[in-house]
Amino acid sequence: MKSSAPGKIILFGEHAVVYNRPALAVPVDQVQVDVEVCDSDKPGVWIDAPMVNLQGELSTLPSDHPIGAVILKVFHHLGISPRPNISVTVTSTIPVAAGLGSGAAVSVALVRALSSFLNHSLSNEQVNQLVFEIEKLHHGTPSGIDNTVITYNMPVYYMKSKPIETFKCGKPFTIVIGDTGVPAPTKQSVGDVRRLWLRDSNRFETIFNEVAQISTMARHFIESGRPEHLGELMDHNHEFLQQMTVSSPELDVLVAAACKAGALGAKLSGGGRGGNMIALVDQASAESVAGALMSAGAKRTIITEVK
Ligand code: PMV
Repeated sequence: MKSSAPGKIILFGEHAVVYNRPALAVPVDQVQVDVEVCDSDKPGVWIDAPMVNLQGELSTLPSDHPIGAVILKVFHHLGISPRPNISVTVTSTIPVAAGLGSGAAVSVALVRALSSFLNHSLSNEQVNQLVFEIEKLHHGTPSGIDNTVITYNMPVYYMKSKPIETFKCGKPFTIVIGDTGVPAPTKQSVGDVRRLWLRDSNRFETIFNEVAQISTMARHFIESGRPEHLGELMDHNHEFLQQMTVSSPELDVLVAAACKAGALGAKLSGGGRGGNMIALVDQASAESVAGALMSAGAKRTIITEVK
């Protein structure tokens, strides 16, 4: 049984979304996770996940191992006991700890492949809920945006504890993603923002409100087919992320390089401090902006169309 899940980028509203403000995220299908589950002739649950250097039997993993935890959660949820003899192969082209949702994508693909193999197909809602519980184990206080956009594989306007809203683009637009190559665990930047918010909640609440307005306007421009207006909103969102202290010199260099090369706007995307940035471009200048990002130190770039 095979299942795949895409990567994702957050277009607007990261961090503020943890504090109940809206954020926009879209799937990125140029990168993906593939999971295959099949019967094994050896006793046990054998996992092969080369991108995290994992090859071994489930019971030898620490109890909080991200992949082991997903498998145990699915067994528990479906009431599977004793454990079946299976082999689970996880391959991924999504860079790890880069803000492209690799963890949530592994969880979504694994939950789907495993539950289908065990003859218990789950609805999107059930998959999303299970993966959210797994995200909580690893990220402390995740907003739930990653699991939602990856499970539904559609653009989402996300607000914590609100019904999920997917949306359609009035006109497609092109984004260049640039990877700083600096691994940046989201848990840390989210924790730092929380400490700063606790210390100076008035200032941070004001920043989050400004970002909420940006996300709301961005959705309006996307749905009404005027994506060219998103550039300026990205620039502003990046400034607010700098004020939240989650940008980094590497991210700022790439954001400036993209704008100098003709991007309509650019910002960091995801947890920040490293990982990826995104730039809005005319389709015709996508390659040259991607080239400028590589010259400015990006480790890789992805050109994706949001539709
Ligand atoms: O680093 P990522 O792409 O997983 O982004 C996390 C987004 C945050 O808003 C920073 C955290 C969250 O849980 O929403």
